[in-house]
Amino acid sequence: MLMTHTSEPILQGQRALVTGASSGIGATVAKMLAAAGAKVVVNYAGGADRAQAVVDHIQAAGGEALAIRANVHREDEVEAMFAQMFEAWDSIDILVNNAGLQKDAPLVEMSLADWQHVLDVNLTGQFLCSRAAAREFFHRGVVPELSRAAGKIICMSSVHDVIPWAGHANYAASKGGVSLLMKTMAQELAPHRIRVNAISPGAIKTPINSAAWMTPEAEAELLKLIPYRRIGDPEDIGRAVVWLASDASDYVTGATLYVDGGMTLYPGFEQGG
Ligand code: BGC
Repeated sequence: MLMTHTSEPILQGQRALVTGASSGIGATVAKMLAAAGAKVVVNYAGGADRAQAVVDHIQAAGGEALAIRANVHREDEVEAMFAQMFEAWDSIDILVNNAGLQKDAPLVEMSLADWQHVLDVNLTGQFLCSRAAAREFFHRGVVPELSRAAGKIICMSSVHDVIPWAGHANYAASKGGVSLLMKTMAQELAPHRIRVNAISPGAIKTPINSAAWMTPEAEAELLKLIPYRRIGDPEDIGRAVVWLASDASDYVTGATLYVDGGMTLYPGFEQGG
């Protein structure tokens, strides 16, 4: 058991699927869920070698993992991925809707293709995977030895589900959509003992935003937007995911947890106003 991230296997025996888990936040989330005792499907769309590296890391630490390729916005691929997971491990207990991307452009230059692709992956992908997981949670119900809930869905959102972001209309719209998709699913699924929550990361050091922290100048600018004056690490998000996936948060549903060093606290108003 990997002891560096969490000391207790609080997810022992549970089966998790993390979308977009070959890099960035998703890769760390997959490793930390495994360190907490879960078996983990490492979903990826491209870069089989990177997904395999995550699987190898989990297995080397004594965990169980399986890499499965699927584009989360393609219905047939999502259905095939869940079928493959159920064939291997019978069911699912935890879904982390993490896959997401940016295709930035000023509004007047944004192509319909780039608008559509970001909405497809970031929002439709969360719908398709949540639907597939919820169907299984319904069908199976609560397994008391594993968890008090019949299933847990964790949606990766962003601080840009509340902070408008010039030059990123597609991304901000997708995350705003994730926010209400999550709450609506939470309301609808709660009577079935399915918990649905979101995590909204701020600036976390990953490849998606490397331009924002690569140079000292960029980093200094970015830190002005973070009252806590630290750029986040993927582990900051992983710890929140493990908590939301565990019975420690059993009475939490429909919540968005901002893990952002205070980015949503209007840092421009630290002085003045
Ligand atoms: C984006 C990052 C950005 C962060 C804070 C995230 O959702 O993907 O590129 O650094 O929000 O603005």
